[in-house]
Amino acid sequence: MNILILGSGGREHTFAYNIASSPKCDGLFVAPGNAGTQSLATNIPISINDFSEVKRCVLQHNIDMVIVGPEEPLVRGIADFFTNDDQLKNIMLIGPSEKGAALEGSKEVAKEFMERNSIPTAAYRSFTADNLNEGQDFLETLSPPYVLKADGLAAGKGVLILNDINDAKTELENMLSHQKFGEASSKVVIEEFLKGIEMSVFVLTDGKNYKVLPTAKDYKRIGEGDTGLNTGGMGAISPVPFADEILTQKIEERIIKPTIRGIENENIDYKGFVFIGLIIVNEEPYVIEYNVRMGDPETEVVLPRLKTDLVDLLEATYKQRLGDISLEVDSRAATTVMVVSGGYPEAYEKGKIISGIEAVSDSIVFHAGTTFKNGAVVTNGGRVLAITSLEGDYKKALKKSYQNIGKLHFDTMYYRKDIGFDLT
Ligand code: AMP
Ligand code: GLY
Repeated sequence: MNILILGSGGREHTFAYNIASSPKCDGLFVAPGNAGTQSLATNIPISINDFSEVKRCVLQHNIDMVIVGPEEPLVRGIADFFTNDDQLKNIMLIGPSEKGAALEGSKEVAKEFMERNSIPTAAYRSFTADNLNEGQDFLETLSPPYVLKADGLAAGKGVLILNDINDAKTELENMLSHQKFGEASSKVVIEEFLKGIEMSVFVLTDGKNYKVLPTAKDYKRIGEGDTGLNTGGMGAISPVPFADEILTQKIEERIIKPTIRGIENENIDYKGFVFIGLIIVNEEPYVIEYNVRMGDPETEVVLPRLKTDLVDLLEATYKQRLGDISLEVDSRAATTVMVVSGGYPEAYEKGKIISGIEAVSDSIVFHAGTTFKNGAVVTNGGRVLAITSLEGDYKKALKKSYQNIGKLHFDTMYYRKDIGFDLT
């Protein structure tokens, strides 16, 4: 079949890497893609939030399956656009309907869904500019730190955690009355702070059946020791070393099963990935967020561990036959370390020539923000490359990723040297 992947990051390069080796894949296209996907697939320079452009591309290249990488097209309803179009309705699109995507697109929708389905999460209330004063009074009833979340999509920046009550009140006002995060913060969820360790689980569902994919832990902060600004993710490890059998079972029983049952009972058309961000408090799992796609850079450690053919899995997802598939996972650990442009996640320069990629051995180089310029691979984003290694344990895998990063160079290159520092 002909397969189209939408997106341009390390996640999409990883999907392309897995799918390119599937016997079921005849033609592979990535829109818009990057320099890495170009070596495996045909890159198509379109805007993926313009669904009529996506439609033209699907029809022109006789696409049978579309995999949606990032959240934005999903939250804008790309799955419904396909279902409601006579020429597209039989294309296998992997991703939830707009109603399902609201689990990521609105923090309040996600919280209400968890409440209805008795899924453990932090206590919360939501506010708009009309009841700002009530929001400020509610803050007074909580103890610090205060967690303020913009309701809508804010490119991973919409969560503020503040220690001081006056700062929290000011920021609540900035979000609600001064559009700190634009339209996304016209509603704000204020939530109880949970102290614990974070990890993520990934589930593939056809809306009824599900498969639990390998767990992963992401390192979100730019600085070593988890300091500084939040980024999209600076590195990841799979499996999560502390996720033992007991914790894994609690997560499946208390979180995954009620989530999938909720999707089914609420008639949410959902054929795609559910990425569940968790905080483990005293060995008890709580949901901090749903994402309706795979994570980046978590994909760079989850997919390389899948032994089951990914196209088979996705086809079964579309046809609601996931129950018939058995999932095989590589028992080795996978790690990835992100190499980023100096300045990221704030302003950074692009167009720096990257050298040393061909010298990398025994690791996989996934391109995140790269392009070709005058025949050379150059930087084209904040996150530039993800270096993934597979080994018997995560420490050995990390060592290999770091050895190979030593062979890479570009002006302003930066990476965290302490991925995994909090694990023993
Ligand atoms: P989110 O976008 O909801 O994943 O939040 C971003 C980050 O804020 C998370 O990865 C956590 O580190 C932190 N966070 C979110 N909600 C809470 C909470 N209720 N308690 C403590 N930390 C939180
Ligand atoms: N790495 C976090 C995310 O993809 O949202």
